[in-house]
Amino acid sequence: MTSMKAAPDKSARHRAITYALLVIGLGLAPLAGGYARQEAAPAQDAAPVQDAAPSKTVWDGVYSEKQAHRGEAIYMDHCTMCHGDDLSGDTPYNPSPQLAGKAFLLRWDENDLGSLFTLIRTQMPKDDPGTLNRQDYIDLVAFLLRSNKFPAGKEELTSDAKALKNVTILKDNPAAKKAIFRRQSAPIARRPWDSIL
Ligand code: HEC
Repeated sequence: MTSMKAAPDKSARHRAITYALLVIGLGLAPLAGGYARQEAAPAQDAAPVQDAAPSKTVWDGVYSEKQAHRGEAIYMDHCTMCHGDDLSGDTPYNPSPQLAGKAFLLRWDENDLGSLFTLIRTQMPKDDPGTLNRQDYIDLVAFLLRSNKFPAGKEELTSDAKALKNVTILKDNPAAKKAIFRRQSAPIARRPWDSIL
């Protein structure tokens, strides 16, 4: 009788312990998951190794206001007859490409200032290429940047080929793009248990 009674008791206790372990196990699982995620995070955030020189874009204030002003005077003397006072390229004689606005920016997007400088210096003015001096040509680039609404900075743009190659023309401000992306990907609502899970 006693042994008959002891058997179900034992198995009931066994079931209870198994159940308790299961509950504890399930309870800990998300915590363990949380630890794993936390440990994995730094590896995910790590930026790829960059050995190239730090590059700039036309949004970094790469020319000065004074320089653009000088460039404007040179433009008015040597370029308006074909590209127009407003840089639209819409002139009755010698119609030429637009030098400020959407069409111009689409053509030059992701190119660099080195290419733009070289084109102007070697091919413009179209009817008399290469006749201006190097400083005039780089001042013209500054004027084109201002005309396309890229911000001015403190330093003047120099005609150093390597430095110019290192400045990328981007029609859209990369900082503005990042801000939009951050806003969209922000969590909708933070729940109290988010910090544990
Ligand atoms: C006689 C007319 C004429 C004059 C003057 C002239 N250009 Fe041009 N420009 C053109 C034409 C035409 C093109 C189109 C490309 C070609 O035919 O070589 C062009 C192309 C350009 C381009 C390339 C545009 C693009 O998006 O591909 C730039 C930049 C430029 N000119 C700047 C200037 C500057 C700066 C001056 C003044 C120093 C100037 N041009 C003077 C006729 C002229």
